[in-house]
Amino acid sequence: MKSLTQKLSDIVGSAFKAAGLDESYGAVRVADRPDLAQFQCNGAMSAAKAAKKNPREVASTVVEQLSKNDIFSKIEIAGPGFINLNITDDYLNAHLADVAKDSRRGAQDAGQGQLAVLDYGGANIAKAMHVAHLRAAVIGDSIRRIMGFSGYKTLGDVHMGDWGTHMGMLIDDYISHNETALVNDTDLSSQKSIDALMDDMAMRYPRASAAAKENPERMARALATTVKLQNKEEPYFALWTKIREVSVLGMKSNYGLLGVYFDLWKGEADVHDYIAPMVEELQSKHIAVESDGAWIIPVARNDDKKEFPPLILYKRDGAVMYGTTDMATIVERVKLYNPDKIVYIVDQRQSLHFEQLFRAARMGGLVRDDVELTHAGFGTMNGTDGKPFKTRAGGVMRLDDLISMAIEKAKARMDEANIAKDMDAAELQSVAHKVAIAAIKFADLQNTRHADYVFDIDRLTSFEGKTGPYLLYQAVRIKSLLKKAGYQEDAFALSLQDVDRPLALLLTEFPEAVDAALKNYAPHYLCDYAYRLAQGFSSFYGNCHILSEENAALRQSRLELCAQTYKNLEAALGVLGIEIPERM
Ligand code: ARG
Repeated sequence: MKSLTQKLSDIVGSAFKAAGLDESYGAVRVADRPDLAQFQCNGAMSAAKAAKKNPREVASTVVEQLSKNDIFSKIEIAGPGFINLNITDDYLNAHLADVAKDSRRGAQDAGQGQLAVLDYGGANIAKAMHVAHLRAAVIGDSIRRIMGFSGYKTLGDVHMGDWGTHMGMLIDDYISHNETALVNDTDLSSQKSIDALMDDMAMRYPRASAAAKENPERMARALATTVKLQNKEEPYFALWTKIREVSVLGMKSNYGLLGVYFDLWKGEADVHDYIAPMVEELQSKHIAVESDGAWIIPVARNDDKKEFPPLILYKRDGAVMYGTTDMATIVERVKLYNPDKIVYIVDQRQSLHFEQLFRAARMGGLVRDDVELTHAGFGTMNGTDGKPFKTRAGGVMRLDDLISMAIEKAKARMDEANIAKDMDAAELQSVAHKVAIAAIKFADLQNTRHADYVFDIDRLTSFEGKTGPYLLYQAVRIKSLLKKAGYQEDAFALSLQDVDRPLALLLTEFPEAVDAALKNYAPHYLCDYAYRLAQGFSSFYGNCHILSEENAALRQSRLELCAQTYKNLEAALGVLGIEIPERM
């Protein structure tokens, strides 16, 4: 269905057309000054400029047309030619009645069944998952939900880092210390055994990596091991297979705690068999060229303003690189799924890599020209000291520790706010978990994607201000209000007074928020909307009677507004990946 501003734009657009002007000038949006009008159209000024006419005259011709339409309760020209508009309550009511029946709450079917592959995991196997992977997961999972809500088919791929030099270093360390039994004897059916290997790897990898950096001999061995592994030689490949199985179990539990979902549990290694044929083809097309024993794709262009290093396909020792696996992953995704879009939700600092990749992929004809390739990059998560987030001891924070910390904080907050009194331990834990995840996700998602942000556990778990817990609290409050009132759906008939109208109008803005979030891969538009809606509800609740309203029609209308508010809030939080508890 069309959003309210789209419907109004159509109407005002026809009025421009009737005046012999382009209908695109009729674009209507929510007014900047709600005290003056509900909606505005600024098109008369640019239309007048193009037609060399007086803007106020253009505006009055349009207004004359519009006044024939009885959906407007007020039409005014302000300043140089702004057209200010109010709509009748009947029209607003009819629109919201349609929204109430719509599964997308008025938002568009923008995807129309197109397929998007989303790449937002990127955690590396054999390393403890840490906060660097948090943003990719939280933002990517939300983008997946927003696209799904908007009619796309989506495939979320975890795309683990499992095929690089770090694997060579780790495996070489097990072999050279004669400790391969630690890997081979790990029992996949025992959590204790799995945790033990995860801890061992978390300790071992930094040690092995530091040693290789210091000692050229160890580095040479690690690199040689990487090549042998990539050729699937034993015992390297069997060790790697076990390490990967264990790591995936650890990763699944971490992503599970966050409520982040993936359709595909693939990694860099899965595309290995695509590499040789792909490189051969690129060689035969002379897109891949030899340079000093390595095979590269020069991607620089004459008009580049910065330096563009080539994408390396094979190093001199024959090892494949990050760019190689990403190229082959495109080949695989096209072959298996034939997507219309591939979106990478990866740290902004990798933007050069993705520019190289996309150029190389286009040069090599890996995707149809109309397939969209996007790097939706994000900024760094900083600590309260403004530097990349670390533990108090200065180390990298493990993801599961961060989540536990947030849960503890959420429990304390619930205690302070007196909302956990009558909960048993299991309910308390489950609600605190939801509050903690809402706090972490909302704090992340409310920022524009590219911006760095400060992870401040005290602020983001607060029940006041623009936080996840505040939104959950408002949502639960509406839910319990409806329950207490014994609200039942009835014929949709709003009776709107001055205190009701702002909330009713706010309900109509949901599609714009979804649209902006979708077009820009930017969930913060939905955070803003959810927050404004919660605030709008809060003032509505404070300004009028609901439960105690004696006029039955007005009472039902207000309950209806509450119910619709809840549904929008639930939909907005839902696509942010935030779940509302039953009560709190
Ligand atoms: N494993 C990479 C890292 O930790 C991120 C992978 C992102 N996805 C991709 N297709 N390159 O930096």
